[in-house]
Amino acid sequence: MNPLQRPLAILSALAEEQAGLVEQLQDAHCVTHAGRDFWQGYLAGLPVVLALSRIGKVAAATTSVALIERFGAGSIVFAGVAGGVGSGVQVGDVVVGTAYVQHDMDASPLFPRYQIPLTGQTAFAADAALARALVFACVVGLQGLRHDGRAPLVHQGLVASGDRFVSGQDEMRNLVEALRSHGHEPLAVEMEGAAVAQVCHDYGLPFAAVRTISDRADDTAHVDFPVFVRDVASVYARRIITELVRALAG
Ligand code: ADE
Repeated sequence: MNPLQRPLAILSALAEEQAGLVEQLQDAHCVTHAGRDFWQGYLAGLPVVLALSRIGKVAAATTSVALIERFGAGSIVFAGVAGGVGSGVQVGDVVVGTAYVQHDMDASPLFPRYQIPLTGQTAFAADAALARALVFACVVGLQGLRHDGRAPLVHQGLVASGDRFVSGQDEMRNLVEALRSHGHEPLAVEMEGAAVAQVCHDYGLPFAAVRTISDRADDTAHVDFPVFVRDVASVYARRIITELVRALAG
């Protein structure tokens, strides 16, 4: 089937971020599969399936494969939170990933550091058209919002994923320096995006993601995290995805 006629999968990392989307779903029904809940229905007339990625690369890859194999997803969009590590990437901003690297992938000396073994690739690109649509959805959807007195900026660039919640200034600096010394300049760190990007690459399906910056991956990264997700990131996600599906539905 043409991927455009197949449902758009919308992944969230946390239940709070998904709740607003499930509320808007038309003809909603929930199927439990692989220990996960998958919500099928329509948003703005567009067939969608909503799921929680769960946390970390393996969990997100399992969810992605289920979305594709069991629910026929034709493309995957992820909306979640991330730690900002690029200069000028502040809490309350959003980052739309253009490419995804796994900062904890290291099969050296068998393969170059960060390279995904047997793929010859270090980074997986987001789908350019879907990422552009997400940027547009961010600009429109976040209009009028402010965080700490400042309008959210929409950044585009590299996102680094790994199975660590980065919450230390030294750890963050080392991670960024190591990536930089291999030619990668990350804007944000999170725990799932590169896994979903790799699955979509394997299946030849479009993938794009947006992350609201919840922290600076430093010593205080965890402090306001739950409150931020509830009060800020979930509002951003609902607004951005609402605009995205409106645009994609035409
Ligand atoms: N998601 C949000 N903040 C994060 C951080 N500091 N590290 C990894 N994942 C995150």
